Amino acid sequence: MFQPLQLGALSLSHRVVMAPLTRTRAAVDSLAPGPTAVDYYQQRASKGGLIITEAVPISPETPYEYAPGIYTKEQEAGWKKVVDAVHAKGGLICMQMWHVGRSAHASWGKHPLLKSLGRPLPTVSSSAVPLPAQMVGLDFETKKPSPPSMPRALEAEEIRTRLVDDYRKAAEAAKRAGFDAVEIHAAHGYLLNQFLCDGVNKRTDEYGGSIENRMRALHEVVRAVITVFGHDRVAVRISPTYKDTNTYYNCNDSNPEQLYREVIRSLDQYKLAYLLLSEPRWTGGKGNADPRTDSGFSQPLRNAWAKEVYSSKIIGAGGFTPASAKETIEKGIYDAVAFGRWFISNPDLPERLRTGADLNIYDRKTFYIHDPVKGYIDYPFAGKESDPKFAKYQTMHQKDIGNSLENAKL
Ligand code: FNR
Repeated sequence: MFQPLQLGALSLSHRVVMAPLTRTRAAVDSLAPGPTAVDYYQQRASKGGLIITEAVPISPETPYEYAPGIYTKEQEAGWKKVVDAVHAKGGLICMQMWHVGRSAHASWGKHPLLKSLGRPLPTVSSSAVPLPAQMVGLDFETKKPSPPSMPRALEAEEIRTRLVDDYRKAAEAAKRAGFDAVEIHAAHGYLLNQFLCDGVNKRTDEYGGSIENRMRALHEVVRAVITVFGHDRVAVRISPTYKDTNTYYNCNDSNPEQLYREVIRSLDQYKLAYLLLSEPRWTGGKGNADPRTDSGFSQPLRNAWAKEVYSSKIIGAGGFTPASAKETIEKGIYDAVAFGRWFISNPDLPERLRTGADLNIYDRKTFYIHDPVKGYIDYPFAGKESDPKFAKYQTMHQKDIGNSLENAKL
């Protein structure tokens, strides 16, 4: 975990990557990252360490509750401060580009900022197939959970031109803000995943039907973003699912094994900075708030086959323990591991993993709240527990993560 790694143009000094983590702390009127976002990312920066930002909405068409976007000058300026703060500590930072597609609630189209920009508003998807009724969204006006919106199917011409252009513009803004790289979020049931999966994509044009057609939107976006950053500073996130696993936001496919194998194989042509793969071993939700009993940390890896069809660097994420991350890297299954929840609660995670220090236990209740401090920048660094600017959190030994003393099976 503490050997250097070259990811395209990015030179890492260790392989403990911060996974993209939506934290919903943006200012609600500007949807820009605020001053505590600067603290949050700077706390987690390390020399030669890679941070992937929370998913960043690329346009007004993809609002997500209090997620900071990259489509206004104010947002860009906010991100520039974050980037500068990470660079000041010698860290690297990659912006995850996000279009949520049908997961955006249409009521957010009434947001004064979004309305004022005169650009297309939610809700869109590959086809007019909504989320299941129980997957409620936050209504912008009432601030209450509300049934999902019926998406509009994007038109073919609009995908080729305007949608691809929205990604390109967001990449240009990210470049101006100084990001080292960008990652295209094609995972977890969001828009590009809604194109990949035939359970959502019912199109009969060149963007639907065969796997080749369903991958077309993703490839057009990848190529457009490469024109801005270069292939060695562009990454993609994919979340393979299997017939026996959960899907994300009900983004189902009739043959997920074949779909994701072809998607990953097809991305090999670009020689990207990295591919981030999500292991489908979350057990998620409030029922598993305690890492000491969360069986997700002991489930086997599922995506190790990806190295058979993909020759560039792969980062794995999802349910890693310190020990299983080390073993996965040593065995060459993944080149690096991205940690999510442990990075939320441990600003100095790489250093704690290096020294074997105990870890702060994360507080799941504060993952998605809007408080600018609580559960965000108040987790202490090792040895700073008595500093009044940090809150008190429980800690645990690294080897006790998971159901037993056993580490996640590989
Ligand atoms: C996530 N995850 C996630 N993934 C992503 O691609 N973009 C995102 O914005 C988010 N947001 C997010 C928020 C929160 C609070 C959590 C817990 C997770 C998934 C994340 O990147 C990672 O894959 C998971 O956290 C699993 O890894 P860990 O937590 O087991 O190390």
